[in-house]
Amino acid sequence: MVIAQVAVVGAGYMGGGIAQVLAMAGLRVTIADADAQTTQRHLERLRREASEFEEQGLFDPGSAALVESNLSAAASLEEAVAEADFVEEAVLEVPEVKGPVLLAIEAAARPDAVIGSNTSTLPIAGLAEQLKHPERFLGVHFSNPAPFIPGVELIAHAGTDEASVVAAEELVARTGKLSARVNDKAGFVLNRLQYVLLKEAATLVEEGVATAEDVDIIVRTTFGYRLPFFGPFAIADMAGLDVYAAGFRTLAEHYGERLAPPAVLTELVDGGHYGVKQDGGFVIPAGDAAPLVAYRNRAYARLGQLLRELGPAPAATKE
Ligand SMILES: NC(=O)c1ccc[n+]([C@@H]2O[C@H](COP(=O)([O-])OP(=O)(O)OC[C@H]3O[C@@H](n4cnc5c(N)ncnc54)[C@H](O)[C@@H]3O)[C@@H](O)[C@H]2O)c1
Repeated sequence: MVIAQVAVVGAGYMGGGIAQVLAMAGLRVTIADADAQTTQRHLERLRREASEFEEQGLFDPGSAALVESNLSAAASLEEAVAEADFVEEAVLEVPEVKGPVLLAIEAAARPDAVIGSNTSTLPIAGLAEQLKHPERFLGVHFSNPAPFIPGVELIAHAGTDEASVVAAEELVARTGKLSARVNDKAGFVLNRLQYVLLKEAATLVEEGVATAEDVDIIVRTTFGYRLPFFGPFAIADMAGLDVYAAGFRTLAEHYGERLAPPAVLTELVDGGHYGVKQDGGFVIPAGDAAPLVAYRNRAYARLGQLLRELGPAPAATKE
């Protein structure tokens, strides 16, 4: 199915941004929020914001005009979804709110419409349980702020049909964003990793190892500096898997099984795969690493230039 007409239900922070992104990609987008008045207010905000972002050079020239012509407000959820090929649900992260909204979407949508949820953490199978046609339902998880963050998690539950996943994949590709398929476990990939980082960061502060401010400095100026370019597996491959195996042994001595070397790392190291320096690793195959190292050096140097140009993030000011 080629998606041309989209509905976004819940036009708040995430739904509004998702609606802008889809409208700028040339799709016809109808939004519906809690009531007609709220929806109209969101429409006006999204149009105004798109103009401001274009003026500031944050959106491409012509974006505001696309949002103006492609984005519209419906008087009700039913009206918004009636003609849609794809419906994205982005209401509150509360099962008691999402449940009835998803039922209403399914009842009013065309039988062949694909339905996505922007849930951050709720298992998709749980949300799908009450639907009559769960095969056309999946997680389509944009990240915040949706207009600027390029990645989207696609989460099929066990009963989602392949055609629905492919339709969502094609839709995301049209927005210029990158999707990755993820299996249906609470928190998926993004938030499981993000929450573990925050949890450990909070524990460091509670133990008196560092202040919250110093934890943030270390994260963004050391390993966080690599993350726009490489994920944890590529980073480990570049550092050396033997080094990581030794590091895990030390951490396991102090923190126990929780930080024991993962079996997959031990297997690679036992097999002589140390990453870039020997025989490849998790995701970087064996071969000439010189172009990769040159790219990495260029990337980090350019990131440094960007950060100097932007200056430090301003502290939030109270209204
Ligand atoms: N905020 C984030 O950083 C973030 C990031 C990724 C995913 N998400 C997920 O996106 C979803 C939306 O989050 P948000 O941050 O945009 O919340 P939000 O509160 O900004 O927006 C939710 C919107 O849903 C509307 N709404 C409530 N009940 C409704 C109903 N019955 N029908 C139609 N609209 C209704 C609200 O009026 C509101 O505008 C949640 O599932 C959240 O977990 C949030």
